Amino acid sequence: MAEKNTEVKTIGVLTSGGDSPGMNAAVRAVVRVAEKKDIQVYGIRHGYHGLITDEIKLMEKNFVSNIIQRGGTILKSARSKEFRTEKGRAKAAENIKKYGIDALVTIGGDGTFTGADILSKEHDITVVGIPATIDNDITGTDETIGYDTALNTALEAIDKIRDTADAHERMFLVEVMGRDAGFIALETSIAGGAELVLLPEELTDINDVKSQLNKMLKNQIRSSLIVVAEGDEIGGAIKLADEIRDDFERYDMRVCILGHIQRGGTPTARDRVLASRLGAAAIKTLTEGHSNVMVGVVNNQVKITPLRVAVSKKKDLDYSLIELAKQLR
Ligand code: F6P
Repeated sequence: MAEKNTEVKTIGVLTSGGDSPGMNAAVRAVVRVAEKKDIQVYGIRHGYHGLITDEIKLMEKNFVSNIIQRGGTILKSARSKEFRTEKGRAKAAENIKKYGIDALVTIGGDGTFTGADILSKEHDITVVGIPATIDNDITGTDETIGYDTALNTALEAIDKIRDTADAHERMFLVEVMGRDAGFIALETSIAGGAELVLLPEELTDINDVKSQLNKMLKNQIRSSLIVVAEGDEIGGAIKLADEIRDDFERYDMRVCILGHIQRGGTPTARDRVLASRLGAAAIKTLTEGHSNVMVGVVNNQVKITPLRVAVSKKKDLDYSLIELAKQLR
């Protein structure tokens, strides 16, 4: 793992990619713990975009007061096309040097870490990543910041949908977020008692889906719930409804896409604690001389993983949970 001997006196912190509840708690921990170590912190607004366009301001301790309970990110977030270009990254590196920033703390998901890894290698910049995405799809941490909150937001919505599904004896196809990963779908399907779940990690056989629905019809089950991960190869809940509607006229079918509601809201206690731990761990990791790594929590211990590994290795779903979901149908 890369280690450097340079002393860190000034750092920059940014949030990038899809926001997730708990990002603010992570920023707060970075600022508070850095201050204890006499490290000054620049806040970079709008992620890598702001690094290029020079939206860089010194953060005082009181900037992070009263934010631990807030969703979103006070630093704002963005997906920057320019940062994907060499020219864009060169501008970003210039600004990092201009402010005398010795190291960057980047808070986000796989896109954020891929960018950090390239920037670090191209311009010899020290970086530490903090995993924050509702998708939970980052290797090197049991959970990412925001996952627990998103899971509970989706579950609350599913419980409510179940009430109306039951009242009208309808079938609901509920789509949850997860572009490439089925963590939210799998766990909400178990916790929400869904009849079926469609995941990007498993090939969806439409005939299996139909035979499951036929079984339900035979058992006189009319009110039911299917959870569909956004990234399932069938193409989402609307596409699934199109595929099955004609064969199942006896079901009064409705589609509900939960969408961005899953990204907002007050972070759960678990997300706030995780974010606080990882914010503090990022500063410790920097002062110990590491670079190009991500901090995570594995089996309740802080763990350091090279960014390259965190982004290149797909995090597996717990296959015993897929089996459990099937047993509980
Ligand atoms: O990466 C988190 C995520 O919420 C995915 O689950 C989703 O596919 C994507 O972001 C949506 O991104 P955007 O808000 O840019 O449309």
